[in-house]
Amino acid sequence: MDSAKQEAGYRAAERVRDGDIIGIGTGSTVLYAMERLQQRMYEEKLTILGVPTSYQTAYRAVEMEIPLTSLDAHPRLDLAIDGADQVDPQLRMIKGRGGAHLREKCVVDAAETFLVIVDESKCVTHLSGNVPVEVLSFACTSVLRRIVDLGGSGEIRTGSGKDGPVISDNGNLIIDCRFADIPSPEELEMKLAAIPGIVESGLFTRYTDKTELMVGKK
Ligand code: 5RP
Repeated sequence: MDSAKQEAGYRAAERVRDGDIIGIGTGSTVLYAMERLQQRMYEEKLTILGVPTSYQTAYRAVEMEIPLTSLDAHPRLDLAIDGADQVDPQLRMIKGRGGAHLREKCVVDAAETFLVIVDESKCVTHLSGNVPVEVLSFACTSVLRRIVDLGGSGEIRTGSGKDGPVISDNGNLIIDCRFADIPSPEELEMKLAAIPGIVESGLFTRYTDKTELMVGKK
């Protein structure tokens, strides 16, 4: 799938115009877009400013000499480029495998256009399975109970390289929720947002009007 991700990432980078201020998402597909942006900065003297959505992206941008700014300095962005875990035909999606969906959603909200870059395996007919949610650790158990009330189940994400739970870039926990079926992603996003202690879910259903999808093929 790497060549498909590279194709999508490189194509997205071609969409960036000189002077653009862009949100830079997180994940392996976005790293390809950054690679091509770095080449364009060198070859075409392209000037851009990026708002990173994670430590991963920020550290990589520093290595690549992609200049960074913050959402506070630039609350309006020309473009946000990001990957996704699942995208349905209405351009609704699930994100958050990398636990970066909270900042990713803030950046998408600030952007005029949301450019989603995926390989073919991410395109589904119905969103299903794992929905990550970022949760205040104080409310973790009550949130788990509320997820059960919604007909799902949740598990605190644990990682490698550290015992115990994954702590997000924002100092919160990630709960991976499972729902047998997601008949209305919009409704589920709203219901999850209404649970005290959930900071943000990985469901992205409100940005379809400004979403453009680029699917890379092998
Ligand atoms: C991180 C994300 C990623 O954008 C998503 O998981 C896609 O990652 P990749 O491009 O590595 O497949 O939402 O929280």
